[in-house]
Amino acid sequence: MAEDDHGYYSDDSSTTSMSDSVDLTYMCIGREYSDYFKEYLLVYLPCWYLPLTVHSLPVDEEELRRLEYQHDLRFLISQDEKLYQAPLCDPGRILDIGTGTGVWAIEIGDKYPSAEVEGIDMLHLQPQMVPSNVRFVIDNLENLDTYKNNHWHHVHARDLNGFLSDAGRFSRDVFDILAPGGYFERVELDRWTIPQNKRYPCLSAFHRLLTQTLKNPLESSEDLVQSLEKAGFKSIQKKEWTIVLSKGNSSLEYFIQSLYVYGLRFFTDDLQWNILEFNIFIALIRNEIMAAGFKLNLYSVYGQKPSTGL
Ligand SMILES: C[S@@+](CC[C@H](N)C(=O)[O-])C[C@H]1O[C@@H](n2cnc3c(N)ncnc32)[C@H](O)[C@@H]1O
Repeated sequence: MAEDDHGYYSDDSSTTSMSDSVDLTYMCIGREYSDYFKEYLLVYLPCWYLPLTVHSLPVDEEELRRLEYQHDLRFLISQDEKLYQAPLCDPGRILDIGTGTGVWAIEIGDKYPSAEVEGIDMLHLQPQMVPSNVRFVIDNLENLDTYKNNHWHHVHARDLNGFLSDAGRFSRDVFDILAPGGYFERVELDRWTIPQNKRYPCLSAFHRLLTQTLKNPLESSEDLVQSLEKAGFKSIQKKEWTIVLSKGNSSLEYFIQSLYVYGLRFFTDDLQWNILEFNIFIALIRNEIMAAGFKLNLYSVYGQKPSTGL
């Protein structure tokens, strides 16, 4: 393992692959996608089970920038510059599920240098130079029931709405692997619950077309609270924020980019639109938002696994 000037270590062995194809990519409509989901589709799951959004997100530099911006937006603007809302007290073992670029895991690793931090994701989007207390593992979050019980002191999952085949089971699996007294926190952008509103005809159509084909259920903040309650979590707290999108602000560009990447494969592959039609549709949505403004809702829900009585 080599240490750089900032005390970061590069260790290829800390990132393990479920498949050699995890780093292979292919180009489609000018964007780069992971080959891994092709194999995943064939080997691990029957087609009907695969959520549309999982295999349709790119893995290129542009997407990494979008995810980094998303992190900054939430962390700096919407989450009061905090990495979490739960009342953590020096957690020893921290797990970030669906870690993406790994930015949250790296920052929490910097904040708690004595903690052991692990980020898991099906995609290899994480950097190689990471703090020595952070590691990334390529794994499927559907496998949490194979993880050690009562182990983690804090489990974090952000932006998984629509990726979970069974959100209730996910909460129960996390409950099992958390140590008594540990916290589970989920942070979600409520981008899916766009009201059918006359001021946004194209955005409403985008939302309706995309969500009616999703295989996985979408959760509201209330669904999330209920799934934590059912799993056995206590002291559940919910916090909500609003991000205002308007002409000229960078949050609007981020939102448009998000619609673009979530919709690109669906509209062009599944609905057989050509790319020009899709680009025009996105431009019309941008105009609607610039004319009428728009608010995005963001929420965090956390709960604690009881220390006793288990
Ligand atoms: C929208 S991104 C959010 C990334 C990160 N949590 C963040 O907030 O920046 C969702 C992530 O979940 C991962 N993911 C989706 N389904 C997964 C699964 N079944 N197992 C592991 N990771 C999964 C995707 O690969 C993607 O990196």
